[in-house]
Amino acid sequence: MKQVMFTLMAMILALGVVSASDYKIPLIGSKAPKFSANTTNGKITFPNDFGNSWKILLSHPADFTPVCSSELLELAHLQNEFKKLGVELAVVSTDDIVLHKMWKAHLEELNYKQRGTVHIGFPLIEDPDAKVSRLYGMLHDEESTDRDVRGVFIIDDKNIIRSVNFYPVEVGRNMNEFVRMVEALQLTESKFVYTPANWQKGDDVIVPYLPYSTEELEADPKLADRYYSVGNRMWFEQVDASTAKVDNDEE
Ligand code: BEZ
Repeated sequence: MKQVMFTLMAMILALGVVSASDYKIPLIGSKAPKFSANTTNGKITFPNDFGNSWKILLSHPADFTPVCSSELLELAHLQNEFKKLGVELAVVSTDDIVLHKMWKAHLEELNYKQRGTVHIGFPLIEDPDAKVSRLYGMLHDEESTDRDVRGVFIIDDKNIIRSVNFYPVEVGRNMNEFVRMVEALQLTESKFVYTPANWQKGDDVIVPYLPYSTEELEADPKLADRYYSVGNRMWFEQVDASTAKVDNDEE
């Protein structure tokens, strides 16, 4: 009997090790994992149903909680900003569809920040068996085994994960940051530039290469108006040449 118990314990432990090591967070550059689920907008297959839009998948710990409520209302407030950027939103938690529908209806009645009521157009995904949450690494077991942390996956038009963020239960996210992130990602995709710290749309950008040689500058002196350096490692491109400063210092 002792031996049977020991074998059983060893098997349970081994299973635990296997499932823990199988539990991976999808990383930047990887294909967004696919799933089908029931949502407040009907059944969806993510990310496929959103075609070649960009997508943001957000998780949150629980319906009808204050921080999550404020997050959903801020997200709904920015829906049109995301639409303009070609971004579709989807939100998941381990609550079921009945609770999701009740919570959505409740939120849509609120006058948050005196902005009036707002319609929540994006789907709230039910995930009571945590299938989606596990697939995207949104359950952080040390924190909770049944409530998601605040996860954010930004996914591009080719369904590649471009940004991964996790926030703790206690801290509500800045939804404007995800608008900024998409603007930066789409800009750096459209031309070979990077964005410096605290970049906001319209700010100068970093060029990750020496923008011109001495010969090129001689041939086209206007290049010095378009690019400037801070020290000799950081080269910037002026977005608006009429307002930007020029600092071609050679350190
Ligand atoms: C909140 O979003 O306010 C919250 C979520 C989970 C536990 C406690 C608070």
